[in-house]
Amino acid sequence: MVDFIGIERVRQLVDQAGAARLIEDLATEIAADFARWGEFDKSARHASHSAVGVIELMPTSDGRLYSFKYVNGHPKNTAEGLLTVTAFGVLADVATGYPLLLSELTVTTALRTAAMSALAARYMARRDSRSMALIGNGAQSEFQAIAFHHMLGVRELRLYDVDPAATAKLERNLAALRLEGLVVRRCASTAEAVRGADIVTTVTADKRNAVILEPSMIEPGMHLNAIGGDCPGKTELHPDILRRPGLRVVVEYAPQSRIEGEVQQMPADYPVIEFNELVAGRAAGRADATEVTLFDSVGFALEDFSALRYLHRLHRAQPGLHEHVDLVPALADPKNLFSLIGPAARVAAQERRPRLAAGTRS
Ligand SMILES: NC(=O)c1ccc[n+]([C@@H]2O[C@H](COP(=O)([O-])OP(=O)(O)OC[C@H]3O[C@@H](n4cnc5c(N)ncnc54)[C@H](O)[C@@H]3O)[C@@H](O)[C@H]2O)c1
Repeated sequence: MVDFIGIERVRQLVDQAGAARLIEDLATEIAADFARWGEFDKSARHASHSAVGVIELMPTSDGRLYSFKYVNGHPKNTAEGLLTVTAFGVLADVATGYPLLLSELTVTTALRTAAMSALAARYMARRDSRSMALIGNGAQSEFQAIAFHHMLGVRELRLYDVDPAATAKLERNLAALRLEGLVVRRCASTAEAVRGADIVTTVTADKRNAVILEPSMIEPGMHLNAIGGDCPGKTELHPDILRRPGLRVVVEYAPQSRIEGEVQQMPADYPVIEFNELVAGRAAGRADATEVTLFDSVGFALEDFSALRYLHRLHRAQPGLHEHVDLVPALADPKNLFSLIGPAARVAAQERRPRLAAGTRS
């Protein structure tokens, strides 16, 4: 039997831990995995592009566990009442090749992206950072707000989205959370939101080379957490920001980021630092209080590996609530796969069918 984490189960797990704590725990797991970077199989994700979006597969392995994520990105979806980003994934045992866990990853992607953003900012943002502009107030935005409030001590959020309803939704959700000491300000433009902010998070969705941030908006000492530019032809920063002298750019995995990140706009030898170098102490995230730093985030398979393993551990710690899916046959004789569909098995298979659709609990 393969363990199963669906939307309801992930909701329970977040409820039990609390979103802020769960994000911080995830950040700890992700950091520990980046610290053993050399143990992982690494490849740029496999992307299948269409005129309206992308479907991507993100595999990795540390030699003991293997994982992959299926994820899409369709910015036009919200106009049709659908999410821009959905995802699911598998954690498997390398020794047998058997899947261990099939999990939703839509909510989990938002949690792990927020964890990764805040983790990078801990290395890169000024220690005294207290205000953050949050540009793009859609599905990912609450998770980013919670992570930066909890892990960085951000106490002022300046919100802007071209869709006022998205900002109103974010404001409502944040008000209900009553995050300690947090002041939320609605802004009339990106420029207004960014002015004077210590940290700028861009998490917009648009299938083009958008210019969310312009060079004139960038102030000394800012940390830019650019999340929404994550596909060829889909960026958020004016290229002159990347040409700014002394800009420090950190990416997750350079071969993938040069295809998908903001740095796709720059030549192949454009200098970037990989995040694992910060964790290992081989590079600094910031030189001084005036430097401008950019975390050019696209999302890397290792972050989903960490998240799947972490969720699996939480899930298995509560055996009563343990849900399975009937995905891999359990056979007395592994060479007799036909026993599952032969005449003798027909009755048992008929009985099993309704449980297949609903999943089963142990
Ligand atoms: N780097 C990562 O690891 C990672 C992970 C998840 C999602 N993403 C990316 O983050 C982005 C946001 O994802 P989401 O799930 O929140 O999408 P979403 O569609 O729910 O929200 C995006 C928001 O951006 C707003 N927006 C679009 N253009 C804008 C502009 N010019 N100025 C201000 N706001 C603008 C939209 O109105 C919308 O509210 C997507 O591009 C997605 O691909 C990246």
